[in-house]
Amino acid sequence: MRPLRAIWPQLAARLQANADYVDLFIGAFSHIETAADITFVDVANAISAFEAAAWRCTDTPFDRAVGSDGTLSADVLDSISPKVLRGAELFYGEAGCAGCHSGPFQTNLEFYAIAMPQIGPGKGDGSDGHDDFGRERVSGDESDRYKFRTPSLRQVAQTGPWGHDGAYDTLQAVVRHHLDPLTSLENYDTSQARLPSRSDLDAKDFVVHSDAERRGAIAAANQLSPVDLTEEKIGDLIEFLTVGLTDSSCVDLRADVPASVPSGLPLAD
Ligand code: HEC
Repeated sequence: MRPLRAIWPQLAARLQANADYVDLFIGAFSHIETAADITFVDVANAISAFEAAAWRCTDTPFDRAVGSDGTLSADVLDSISPKVLRGAELFYGEAGCAGCHSGPFQTNLEFYAIAMPQIGPGKGDGSDGHDDFGRERVSGDESDRYKFRTPSLRQVAQTGPWGHDGAYDTLQAVVRHHLDPLTSLENYDTSQARLPSRSDLDAKDFVVHSDAERRGAIAAANQLSPVDLTEEKIGDLIEFLTVGLTDSSCVDLRADVPASVPSGLPLAD
């Protein structure tokens, strides 16, 4: 058994030993009749069913504006605000965002190198292990170096810090990065990085970024073309991302935290 999976029966055994969990599992799954029937797969399915139902977050202006043919209704967006409509038009037009952030989740699920600054200790790549080669780590193909999957932009105003390594501390900054990736990489302000501080880790956080050669390699891999937008248009684009893609019922999820759990473990406030 692979090491990770070896823990599964042990986790299932803990639940099997708790009468309250056993009752909940019997109630939720028709194939579970006794404690011994509970497996880790049931646990994973229960968690994913909860996440899919509770955190779907699809009540956004964007969702209300999408018609059955997949096009956006200008009237619906305009009724929220003309700025949101202008932002959506830019996103799907002049700003070129939908070239990658397409479809109902604003992602084509493909991988691109967009010159995101590399911060943090790295993933074990490069001569000193501080690089993160991104998609190449999975594909083994050098031409995939520094490529990362286009992320969904649903609820994006709440998902900071932004970028695969959380390099940007504001949505504004990560959007501006897209408009001029190489300048943004070169002028990246490291003071915005939100990283845990510990002396041994702190020393590794900017090893890659402060190395001109490696910054050059990240720049050379870039596939994102700059776009020249006025300040007003950048404001409109951000309005679409923040207002248009936010389900306001999903901003504060504290109501989903139960008062207690059968294990008796304490819950964070
Ligand atoms: C060439 C494909 C491509 C285009 C075009 C593109 N993006 Fe991205 N975008 C990406 C990729 C890939 C990432 C993740 C990169 C990473 O983390 O290294 C990303 C990340 C983001 C993020 C950060 C999301 C998060 O949760 O961290 C935002 C916001 C974003 N893009 C908005 C935009 C906007 C707005 C536009 C249009 C101006 C745009 N993108 C155009 C590929 C693209």
